[in-house]
Amino acid sequence: MADPLTYPETSPHGHIGPPRLYDTFANVFFLGRRRATFQRLIAAAGVQPGQRVLDVGCGTGYFARLLAHAVGPEGLVVGIDPSLEMITYASHKAGRARNCQFQVGTAESLDFPTEHFDVVVSSLVMHHLPEDMQGPALREMRRVLRPGGKLLVADFQIPRHGLGWRLLAVITDHSRMARMVPHLELLAAQAEFAEIRVGEAPPWLRYVYAVKAASAM
Ligand SMILES: C[S@@+](CC[C@H](N)C(=O)[O-])C[C@H]1O[C@@H](n2cnc3c(N)ncnc32)[C@H](O)[C@@H]1O
Repeated sequence: MADPLTYPETSPHGHIGPPRLYDTFANVFFLGRRRATFQRLIAAAGVQPGQRVLDVGCGTGYFARLLAHAVGPEGLVVGIDPSLEMITYASHKAGRARNCQFQVGTAESLDFPTEHFDVVVSSLVMHHLPEDMQGPALREMRRVLRPGGKLLVADFQIPRHGLGWRLLAVITDHSRMARMVPHLELLAAQAEFAEIRVGEAPPWLRYVYAVKAASAM
């Protein structure tokens, strides 16, 4: 069975089909804990009011909208995604929120100035990128971060225990997806991030948190 968070495939970028369908699948897939999962990521990234945050591969903008709430009216969240359909939907969902903006773009070539953001986040995107694009994507994220800025990249984690987990892995082919997830700590280290830490955002996500060292260019 197809992975609910990538089905249906519609483009060479591997980006996904109807945004509304994606959100419906995601709500079910996270077992009613989608909001708590993403709030956990926001806390882990240490997002503060007034900050400027980039969400790479924002999809329907769900994470970006929660981030916009965290940065408040003085802050700004920008979501980018190669899918025009996703960006159109995300913009519509954000309504008149002036601190939550969306634009078409790709992780491997971020259309922003160097040292522009306080925080860069990306969820469930790295496993979509071909291997030779993952390193460049992390380096781009580092480039657009200010010195001392924070990176948080989350993706699936392999279910390790419990019959329920294993069952869900079989039903959703979650384990196949999990095998496609790159070694996030290694990628962050190769992109010369510092203070690399990992954590979990139940029920399905694992994240790497890292800092762009203040002395780094
Ligand atoms: C599984 S969705 C995750 C969406 C959202 N981040 C979330 O957590 O719900 C993967 C997203 O990655 C996007 N994507 C695919 N290739 C990309 C690339 N090269 N750069 C940035 N995003 C990409 C897809 O368009 C899709 O919206």
